[in-house]
Order: sequence, then structure tokens, then C-alpha cells
Amino acid sequence: MADEKNLCLSGTGVTKVFGFGRTRTVAVDHVDFAFHEREVISIVGESGSGKTTLAKMLLGLISSTEGDIYFQGQKRDISSGRKKQEYWKNIQAIFQDPFSAYNTFHKIDAVLLDCIRMRGGRNLPREKKVELMTEACSFVNLKFAELTNKYPFELSGGQMQRLMIARIFLLKPKILIADEPTSMIDACSRATILDMLMQLRDEIGMTIVFITHDIGLAYFVSDSVYIMERGKFVERGSADEVILRPKEPYTRRLINDVPKIYEEWDLSTV
Ligand SMILES: Nc1ncnc2c1ncn2[C@@H]1O[C@H](COP(=O)(O)OP(=O)(O)OP(=O)(O)O)[C@@H](O)[C@H]1O
Ligand SMILES: [Mg+2]
Repeated sequence: MADEKNLCLSGTGVTKVFGFGRTRTVAVDHVDFAFHEREVISIVGESGSGKTTLAKMLLGLISSTEGDIYFQGQKRDISSGRKKQEYWKNIQAIFQDPFSAYNTFHKIDAVLLDCIRMRGGRNLPREKKVELMTEACSFVNLKFAELTNKYPFELSGGQMQRLMIARIFLLKPKILIADEPTSMIDACSRATILDMLMQLRDEIGMTIVFITHDIGLAYFVSDSVYIMERGKFVERGSADEVILRPKEPYTRRLINDVPKIYEEWDLSTV
């Protein structure tokens, strides 16, 4: 492949089968993909099409039944706890339900300190750590001083989403997987969150994989779009190719479910 040197995350024949016999479900069925550095990718498909299962395999949270995943062109090795920790420095996620992402018993500063530790900042002086946390919070319009003694469940949904982005700001991963990151919040905060993510992409050169039902979002933010139907990628290409000139009836149906694709994501009015 000509652009192999910019390959960030790729896979061949990646498959996940749950259960066996009558309960056997092929959640992800031999998918191939190639995500490049700084690229914004959307994976779009109906509920149950296998998006979250694929995301979990990419993150190394569940194993694949078949197939190979490559990180920067090398076959991924997460066979030990330490290798997994190393891998997670490079790939991070924002999930559908931010409540599930945090340890409820850790205060917010512990959540952020953990990120600094993961980046090798364990021995930084306390003032430097506070400076980093303050900077991360202000990037997402949160005030660190007001958060230090709170628990994640004391935040609103929107604040929690922003705290997740503050974590990404500190962790600076190569790849961010965002599984329906904006589904919980209103359109205005949704635009802000997307804007923050795109800004991070530019600043730290991150690859972002959005996982969504929302083909309007996919059109608005992505370079490449993968359409997922019952565990398979049925169509892929640039956002313009796939969404403005869809070939598959399934893609057309997803598009028809969003009557006002352009207006909905017109940010000039926000
Ligand atoms: N742990 C599991 N055990 C058994 N089956 C599972 C498990 N996780 C997912 N599945 C099945 O795999 C299929 C794909 O599920 P997945 O959560 O990946 O879909 P999705 O595209 O993320 O859907 P949504 O848009 O609703 O989030 C579904 O049929 C689901 O029931
Ligand atoms: Mg899902």
C-alpha cells in the first residue's frame, strides 16, 4: 500500500462471534479497514449492526474470534497486562454512557491525576500537576477549582462529557474512538463537543473514529465513512462518495432516515 507509513490502525478479517449453537451471534463478520494518521472516520450502522463490538475489539477490551489488528502497520500485541497498558497510551475511548466510564468512588482530581500518571508524570511536582489539570479543564470550559472535590456522578451529563475530553487532552492518544459521544446532550453542547474533538485532532494529530447511527454527523465530520450492516462493511469511501453518491440500498435507507442532513449540522446558527 502506498500510504502504509501513515497507517494508524488497520485490520483484516476481524470477526467476533458471541455464544454458540442457537444463541450464536456473528456480531462482526470479517471486516477489513485501514485508518490513517489524523484521519476522521465514521462507522455508521443501525442498532445491533456490530459497531460497539468492533470498537471494543479495537480497544482490546474483548478479543476477536478471528482476524488480525495492526497498530502502525505492526501486528498488535496485547498479550500481557503491561503490553495492554502500553497500547492504551495510544488508543482511548469516549463511550455512549459517560457514567460507566469512571470509577464512581474516585474524585475528579483522581481521574485526571491518573491520566497524568499514565503519561509518565507520576513524579511531577504537585503544582505542575495542578497546572496540567487546570489547563485540561479550561480547554473544555470547566473550572478545575470547582471540580477538585467532586465525584463524577455530581456532574451533569454535558459536564461529564467534557471531563472525558479533558482526559483525552491529558492523555494525548494517537487514536480516539468515540462511540455515540454526543447522544446524551443537546444540539448546542453537541456542536461544542465536536468542535473540541476536532481541535484536539488538529493539535495533537489524533485519528478519530466516530461510531454513530447519525449519518448527518458522519457527513459533517468525517474524511472516510464505513457503513456497517449486520456485522459487515457494506460500503466505504470518502464522506462525499458514500453519503452524496451511495451505491448500496442500505446506505440510501440510512440517509433517508435523516431528512435534513445539511441543516441539522449547520453550525453557523449555533
Ligand atoms: N456480550 C455479548 N454477548 C452476546 N451477544 C452480544 C454481546 N455484545 C453484543 N452482542 C450482540 O452483537 C450484536 C452487535 O451488538 P453491538 O452492541 O456491537 O451493536 P451496535 O451496532 O453497537 O448497536 P447500537 O447502535 O444499538 O449501540 C447484537 O446482536 C448484540 O446483541
Ligand atoms: Mg453500540
